[in-house]
Amino acid sequence: MRILFIGDIVGKVGRDAISTYLTRLKQEHRPTVTIVNAENAAHGKGLTEKIYKDLLREGVDFMTMGNHTYGQRQIYDFIEDAKRMVRPANFPDEAPGVGMRFIQINDIKLAIINLQGRAFMQDIDDPFKKADALIEEAQKETNYIFVDFHAETTSEKNAMGWYLDNRVSAVVGTHTHIQTSDERILPGGTGYITDVGMTGYYDGILGINRAEVINRFLTSLPQRHVVPDEGRSVLSGVIIDINKEGKTTHIERVLINDDHPF
Ligand SMILES: [Fe+2]
Ligand SMILES: [Fe+2]
Repeated sequence: MRILFIGDIVGKVGRDAISTYLTRLKQEHRPTVTIVNAENAAHGKGLTEKIYKDLLREGVDFMTMGNHTYGQRQIYDFIEDAKRMVRPANFPDEAPGVGMRFIQINDIKLAIINLQGRAFMQDIDDPFKKADALIEEAQKETNYIFVDFHAETTSEKNAMGWYLDNRVSAVVGTHTHIQTSDERILPGGTGYITDVGMTGYYDGILGINRAEVINRFLTSLPQRHVVPDEGRSVLSGVIIDINKEGKTTHIERVLINDDHPF
């Protein structure tokens, strides 16, 4: 099976990049399943029901989330019914939504797990212990297990990749919005990349308008983050081929912007 995974869609520019490129990307790479990280899809923070449905209509099969999962109030109204979405599994049990779901594509069952790191992030439950528990559950059902590890530091993501090697098909990092060039297949057959990168405003800072972010560094004062509605875009993703044993056989980055045209 082939997975196309696209990193953090940020605001309208990111959603427009999906409209512009996803059909062509799917024609070229013929993925079995297309997964996107949607934690920033609504104005940079969270996801609305309309955007959730729009992304499904555009050809996205499944969404993962992150620290901005609850950024839009209306998520509480639809997250329990959103069967094509997971939020970080190591949020406390009281948090709405679930952290692992299975999707069936023809005769293939894929487990999709979302986890969130703790280094320089919110102090939630242990993602490593949570991964152990979920993988045990998933392995009863399928060899195909995909993990989006939403974390800040390269070390925590690297540690998760090695910790899960030989137990899951792939571990991809999200959250830092800059694509890393370290994609590889770990010795146990787990596909890995530290960060897939984001999909949004190319001339901003991590998809956000530059001026306020620079000002914050200059003044150390709080600034409002502005996510532009128009401008040049970047689309960042990864393509992963997985064999019948659930091992990655090929992993390849996708990066589309004016400096890397499609
Ligand atoms: Fe993000
Ligand atoms: Fe994030």
